[in-house]
Amino acid sequence: MPENGSGDLELDVGGRQLRFPAVWLRDNCPCAECLDPYSQQKFLAITDLSTELAVAAAAEVGESVVVTYAPDQHRSVFSRAWLAGHALDRYDDGAGRTEDDKALWQAADTPELPAASWPQASWQEYLAEPAERIRSLAAVMRLGFVLLHDVPVEPGTVLQVAATFGYVRETNYGALFDVRVEPAPGNLAYTNRQILPHTDNPYRDPVPTVQLLHCLRTAGDGGDTGLVDGFAAARDLRVADRRSFDVLTRTAVSFGYSDDGTELRASQPLIQLSPRGRVRGVRFNNRSAQPLRLPYADIAAFYAAYRPWAELLAQPERQLNLRLAPGDCLIFDNTRILHARTAFSLPAGADGSQGRHLQGCYADLDGLASTLAVLSRPGDSGRGPAPSREES
Ligand code: FE2
Repeated sequence: MPENGSGDLELDVGGRQLRFPAVWLRDNCPCAECLDPYSQQKFLAITDLSTELAVAAAAEVGESVVVTYAPDQHRSVFSRAWLAGHALDRYDDGAGRTEDDKALWQAADTPELPAASWPQASWQEYLAEPAERIRSLAAVMRLGFVLLHDVPVEPGTVLQVAATFGYVRETNYGALFDVRVEPAPGNLAYTNRQILPHTDNPYRDPVPTVQLLHCLRTAGDGGDTGLVDGFAAARDLRVADRRSFDVLTRTAVSFGYSDDGTELRASQPLIQLSPRGRVRGVRFNNRSAQPLRLPYADIAAFYAAYRPWAELLAQPERQLNLRLAPGDCLIFDNTRILHARTAFSLPAGADGSQGRHLQGCYADLDGLASTLAVLSRPGDSGRGPAPSREES
């Protein structure tokens, strides 16, 4: 059993042959000398460990494995369940954020998808039922969005919605922003023009990763919202046109925004990959893209990739169309889901103050994922201690 002569630990768990190097075990030793039992944080730095580490002996005691190391005779006790749960047989690539952790979709996948099968919840149930919050937040992680209904049509309520799962990300637009027609708009969002599918704030780094849009008043005509799954589109581009996909993942594109008090610039690829090359983020916004700065010879190749990407994103069959009603609040992943709106009419003779009005704010996906994970902890309180290496 356990020690195999190479300095590793070998273990049979339910027929699975697991193997762990000594340095990995020692680095994850759960004893109170190595790991603070209260915070579960490590006391040891990697430089504290001997470079000659080996598993000198290993013994199974009940459901635990006791490992003794050479050269220092330090001992670690691991539960078999913890070791099995941390088997060294796969990559941990992206912590729930890559295409591999998502259910990719396009509207045409499910012609009747609309209404009944959208991820949605009523605000009252969302507030009252942890299970409903879990379902809704899990939908944001898996599908990229959730639609809440019957959120009170009171200005500022969008901030309360964000506070149910995280912290508002304040930006140059304020804690919240009003999306309605303005007389001298600093952003085309504040007109009644059509807005093509885009992600918000690509000129920020880091970009706000969650966006909320709360409808207070609809337009008489138009102003419908469209959603596109950018990860599904990126996957399809990779299959159909690998060369363009590669260009877009390797070319940093600058985005910018400026007004009286703001001068923002960020430069990132339109399709961002994880360390193992899986799609992890998209940025797309024709309004704020800056002049591309590349060696002359690379410009043509970029545009040859940019156009088919834009055409793919604009395919009508990709876009889920919904008309937000007053009280509807959309929560979506701004690193994945592109949003759009159709042009809309203004009330006769009005300046916009009586027309379509949404309020939006930003928040972050890591906080949303954290809230979801805490709500999903086994047990009822959701406040139990983090599982330890000994208890698994
Ligand atoms: Fe937007």
